[in-house]
Amino acid sequence: MWKGRFQKETTDRVQQYGESISYDWRLYAHDIRGSLSHAEALVEAGILTRAEFNAIRKGLREIEKEIAAGTFDFKVTLEDIHMNIEAALTQRIGPAGAKLHTARSRNDQVALDIRMYCRDEIDAIIAHLETLQKALVECGLKNRNAVIPGYTHLQRGQPVLFAHHLLAYVEMFERDCGRLADARRRVNVMPLGSGALAGSTIALDRLGIAKRLGFPAITQNSMDAVSDRDFVAEILFALALAGTHLSRLSEDVVLWATAEFRFVTLSDAHTTGSSLMPQKKNPDVAELTRGKSGRLYGNLVSLLTTLKGLPMTYNRDLQEDKEPLFDSIDTMKAALAVFAEMMEAMTVNAGETAAATDDPYLLATDIADYLVKRKVPFRQAHEIVGKLTAHCVENNRQYPELSLDEFRAFSETFDASVFKVFDVRTALRARTAVGAPSPSNVAKQLGRWQRKLAAKKA
Ligand code: ARG
Repeated sequence: MWKGRFQKETTDRVQQYGESISYDWRLYAHDIRGSLSHAEALVEAGILTRAEFNAIRKGLREIEKEIAAGTFDFKVTLEDIHMNIEAALTQRIGPAGAKLHTARSRNDQVALDIRMYCRDEIDAIIAHLETLQKALVECGLKNRNAVIPGYTHLQRGQPVLFAHHLLAYVEMFERDCGRLADARRRVNVMPLGSGALAGSTIALDRLGIAKRLGFPAITQNSMDAVSDRDFVAEILFALALAGTHLSRLSEDVVLWATAEFRFVTLSDAHTTGSSLMPQKKNPDVAELTRGKSGRLYGNLVSLLTTLKGLPMTYNRDLQEDKEPLFDSIDTMKAALAVFAEMMEAMTVNAGETAAATDDPYLLATDIADYLVKRKVPFRQAHEIVGKLTAHCVENNRQYPELSLDEFRAFSETFDASVFKVFDVRTALRARTAVGAPSPSNVAKQLGRWQRKLAAKKA
């Protein structure tokens, strides 16, 4: 493509080292769509005739079909997807193909392609996130009465509905959707016309190109436009954080599926056995997902490191943006799809979760609240219940087994009504503040999410 200036071919080793076609070929459909819109602008500018444009369109469509069918002959010598397509076009249609790259550089071309690719992938990932949210809501609805201990420090804290725990993840994934949608606004800016770095002496109708490609805005600084990969970093961050959420959910699933917890049973279809221990049923999907957060973080750090210290404007380092981006997108889509499937098929062992929740210590705070409602200052109430608990632990007894006299030995404020506190359902019903897990609140939240997710386009 640049043979004019050179007397020697690049060595095989340099070609192998610098090629990106092995991975950037996936941008082909966006590259072709961008080229068509560029060619349209070249017609308007009087560079291409209608006939030449038609030849270009026909040629590009053929190439697109061949790539989609897997019959296109990619050449490493042509380095990347942009030059592979342009060379094939010129070979097929002759001189018109050689005019296509007028007023364009691969620098603005690749920026355009990645932006169009990111736009589509953001939409796809948001749809995947919503599918997982739906699976979590469904699981909550199916098990709407299941109670579990809520934990802090992985020590039993207070009772909650299992659905409330699941809905916490629905909230997290909603923020992930929001972050991706927000990043999309900055992705959705059209860079073509920036040329290599300083635009072109042949001025094309950039707004027209943007309009045809569905961009609501165009970049305002050619130097920024060819070297900006902030939007890739934003996406990688959004995916890294979504990966954190998936990893936390994975950890919960791994714990819940242990013999120690037994809160859930994963379907055989989403677990694996051991080649040595015949009894094993392992939660590999959750473990792999927890593990894959590592590459999601790595990809983010990899890109940030590539970008730091780049002098203006385009530098070949920027070719290193693609593999982390593609990997995070592929990883996230695969993880979300398999996780949604696994959560749908997971059964909750309500008997086990109820047994775990039948731990009176989970209601210690409720006893303190009982005293507060009878005018005892909370700090004092906390201490009284603390002493009461120490007494129970020492004597290996539970609150409900104590007599009223024993209660009153710790505080005169106790009367017979204290025994009503020891009912998990009562305790849950009392948690009525917005965001708290009373059964009616949780039912409302499940309904809200169900409607909200149903309203989103599938
Ligand atoms: N393959 C290159 C990339 O992905 C395309 C742009 C090349 N530009 C250049 N001036 N060498 O960044």
